[in-house]
Amino acid sequence: MTARTVVLTGASDGIGAAAARALTRAGDQVVVVGRSPAKTAALAAELGTEHLVADFARLDEVRGLASALLSTYPQIDVLANNAGAIFGATRTVTADGFEPTFQVNYLAPFLLTELLHDRLVASRATVINTSSVAGARFGRLDLDDLQSSRGYSATRAYGSSKLAQILHAKELDRRYGADGLAAVSFHPGGIASNFSTTDGSPWRFLYRSRLKNLVLNSTEQGADTLVWLAQTPPHEGWEPGGYYVKRRPGRVVSAVEDAGLAAGLWERSVGMLGLG
Ligand SMILES: NC(=O)c1ccc[n+]([C@@H]2O[C@H](COP(=O)([O-])OP(=O)(O)OC[C@H]3O[C@@H](n4cnc5c(N)ncnc54)[C@H](OP(=O)(O)O)[C@@H]3O)[C@@H](O)[C@H]2O)c1
Repeated sequence: MTARTVVLTGASDGIGAAAARALTRAGDQVVVVGRSPAKTAALAAELGTEHLVADFARLDEVRGLASALLSTYPQIDVLANNAGAIFGATRTVTADGFEPTFQVNYLAPFLLTELLHDRLVASRATVINTSSVAGARFGRLDLDDLQSSRGYSATRAYGSSKLAQILHAKELDRRYGADGLAAVSFHPGGIASNFSTTDGSPWRFLYRSRLKNLVLNSTEQGADTLVWLAQTPPHEGWEPGGYYVKRRPGRVVSAVEDAGLAAGLWERSVGMLGLG
């Protein structure tokens, strides 16, 4: 049987690298996508698979990534939008003019998914967004201020980007579920990875702590729900449009059930990217 093709972003480290290892062991062809050329190439060499590099803080690199994927892989069975980060206390903007948390965690994967849309539908693919419980705890999506230009806080920007990823999966399901595309999001748990370890990151005291392995789970545990969603057909344990934690439906806030918010976010995103 031909191996399934799994495109996995944020695969050069942490949860993504653990998922890439598990899926490769299970027989999938994982396309390892990372930002750091050296780390991404090293993991691909370890797994004997192919890799691509793109910095999601640069939308031209996301477009280049999509072109490379479309020209190389006639079938994409799974797209896992897993790359993500939290940024510092001071608001900055990317070269594309967007607040970095919004762009890297949400807008860039939205663009990648849109550029791959026809291939994903033709492949009857599953799209998996790595979200976070931070979406429910700290997210507050204001369609008139998606760039956090008023009252920026790194924690709120991160939570809002993760809430946007849940809404993205829900809206993908509403728009394209009937065409055969299955979209879903999940929270990996609090995971001891490189996440939030950079200077200025609001949660660095936890994620850099020498005790972090006592209070946080392993990257393999963080990858478990991603791997399960990637390997399990939709409607056989999970429902498209859903949000999962430890392989079970997660608790969601009212914003997640707000179809107008999800549709509005979609329209704003298309407008920002000049699509459609
Ligand atoms: N760790 C947690 O407790 C936790 C909890 C909830 C949700 N999450 C989410 O889980 C996902 C994976 O995080 P992790 O814990 O595995 O963190 P990690 O160890 O820091 O790995 C992050 C991955 O994302 C990639 N990445 C970061 N910035 C990028 C950019 N600008 N462009 C492209 N790729 C970029 C990194 O690439 P390079 O290494 O090549 O730079 C790396 O492969 C993220 O979406 C995160 O928000 C994590």
